Amino acid sequence: MAKYNLKINGKARQVDVDPSTPVLWVLRDSLNMVGTKFGCGMAQCGACTVHLDGNAVRSCVLPVSAIGKQEITTIEGLSANGEHPVQKAWLEHDVAQCGYCQSGQIMSAAALLKSNPKPTDEDIDAAMSGNICRCGTYLRIKEAIKTASK
Ligand code: FES
Repeated sequence: MAKYNLKINGKARQVDVDPSTPVLWVLRDSLNMVGTKFGCGMAQCGACTVHLDGNAVRSCVLPVSAIGKQEITTIEGLSANGEHPVQKAWLEHDVAQCGYCQSGQIMSAAALLKSNPKPTDEDIDAAMSGNICRCGTYLRIKEAIKTASK
């Protein structure tokens, strides 16, 4: 076990965990931040997507020992009161079906629009291709990203 001082959603948090512990489980088990979801545990589905210094990363394969001073942002910290343009567009387009993958989808979409505010269809496909949705909400996801980019 080792102590880590993390910056998560703008707040300093300390955890005492094994250095190899994935950030996903630090968030969910140590800090009770359960908005970030476990899907595959192998960086294949995107359900666990968070931001590391603004970039979308798969928290299920990211050991806490690799974070250092980089800031983690989770779905809980993306905006106050769900007012991020991506979250508003998600509601407008009624994107979620079962909802399980959606926090990861939203985090990937938000990272895309931060780095590329006016993405083409191809840009959206490329950025979102690592986020799997078993309900097949892909068309609504794409429309919501386009709305959020306006
Ligand atoms: Fe991390 Fe699937 S749970 S990519």
